[in-house]
Amino acid sequence: MNSPVATKPERTYLVKTYGCQMNVHDSERLAGLLEGAGYVTASDGQPDLVVFNTCAVRENADNKLYGSLAQLRDYKASNPNFQIAVGGCLAQKDRDVILQKAPWVDVVFGTHNIGSLPTLLERSHHNNQAQIEIEESLQHFPSNLPTKRESTYAAWVSISVGCNNTCTFCIVPSLRGKEKDRRPGEILAEIEALVAEGVVEITLLGQNVNSYGVEFGDRGAFAKLLRAAGQIPGLERIRFTSPHPAAFTDDVIDAMAETPNVMPTLHMPLQSGSDRILSKMRRSYRSDKFLGILEKVRERIPNAAITTDIIVGFPGETEEDFLETMRVAEASRFAAAFTFKYSKRPGTPAAEYDEQVDEAAAQDRYIRLLNLCNDIVWQENQKLVGQTVEVLVANNEGKKDADTDRMSGRARDGRLVHFQIPEGQQAPRPGDFVTVVVTEAKPYFLLADATPGSTYELRRSAAGDAWDRAQTESCDVPAAPVNKDGRVLLTLGKPKTK
Ligand code: 5AD
Ligand code: SF4
Repeated sequence: MNSPVATKPERTYLVKTYGCQMNVHDSERLAGLLEGAGYVTASDGQPDLVVFNTCAVRENADNKLYGSLAQLRDYKASNPNFQIAVGGCLAQKDRDVILQKAPWVDVVFGTHNIGSLPTLLERSHHNNQAQIEIEESLQHFPSNLPTKRESTYAAWVSISVGCNNTCTFCIVPSLRGKEKDRRPGEILAEIEALVAEGVVEITLLGQNVNSYGVEFGDRGAFAKLLRAAGQIPGLERIRFTSPHPAAFTDDVIDAMAETPNVMPTLHMPLQSGSDRILSKMRRSYRSDKFLGILEKVRERIPNAAITTDIIVGFPGETEEDFLETMRVAEASRFAAAFTFKYSKRPGTPAAEYDEQVDEAAAQDRYIRLLNLCNDIVWQENQKLVGQTVEVLVANNEGKKDADTDRMSGRARDGRLVHFQIPEGQQAPRPGDFVTVVVTEAKPYFLLADATPGSTYELRRSAAGDAWDRAQTESCDVPAAPVNKDGRVLLTLGKPKTK
């Protein structure tokens, strides 16, 4: 008989996240819940529990999950105390199919009941039987769940969950339910609490942020929320994702332009440039309106970096429709574009449409659009060479930083910048700000290298101090160890011992 899960000291866990920012934030909550129940992060790559927080937006996400579950089958067979839990959108969609396909899974939970995970794990162990619990709808806005944030300087803040739109390709409304809005006072209180902990950047999250307020009857609620968040002392950067072009009203553009800590960046999903396809997608704006919004945004917020999502190969999309998408993408001059091949999602209206586009045509269009978008992204990046940018220093964005002697972070417009610290200058901590000059543009990032006489200004921030404190707490070493060049040693510190 297995020992009871709860009495075994320090069970370790790993959360694997697929999909969008909502899931990333939900995973922070799952981690918070698990740590509240006595679990600790697995640092040895051999967790006692793996939680998959899944996505169902496109089919390849399904395939990835079932592939990962198959890989764990033998391990589970030889380690009966090891547990596997599957949550998120795919769990909400597939429910008992997950247990049919992978009966070695211990717990399946949905998008509306992430708070039940620790109890379900315990029950599954105790009863020696898989547990599945899916709620049809959200009972309360999940704002009181403990959260273990991934970053000391930036945080996600949920303003709404669910979506009242009915885009015909999209499975989200059936999995995340109708839009539920969190009250502004609660959101602002959470932001204030985060700022008090040292957070300097927040991203407001919602499936459709500019319809925020629909539930409590205030159409201007999102613009008001931006302005109110803008007043919070110490909050340096506000971002949000994602708005919908249909209801993107001027009050939001005004609030963005008139609130200095709202960043000059906007993720505005186009989906298609063809009016015919937009109508079949049940997206109520047309390409003219879309381009008009971008024009207004750029008038009020010069240099705004606008990013997008585009789908090619939607059922019935002809070459002419696709050329419309190319035209609008070219005119939009996106700073980044997430391009997708249409993926048939059973249960959505578009999955029933007759004229599914064949794979070869979809692939061909996908590559042509990708090439166009990449060219534009690079051209837009090149315009920034020679410009001064303020970078919020990250602690995990530059995979090659150690080899290239650079550090990394995001500019105000969201662009990734890898920068060098000139000889003799002090290094920033993650969460501090540096001001540097862009020396080179690459397709996906900017470089700001140290050249003779180059600009480099460091502004230490409350987030940098918070990072120091976190290091001290987790490593038992003095804050901000610095090497002989004045650089902070990011990896110094003993492993945590209890
Ligand atoms: N097929 C392809 N892409 C999709 N998206 C949503 N549903 C589908 C689908 N069925 C894309 C949209 C959305 C992004 C998050 O994923 O572009 O904005
Ligand atoms: Fe899906 Fe459309 Fe809602 Fe976005 S707005 S979540 S694409 S239904």
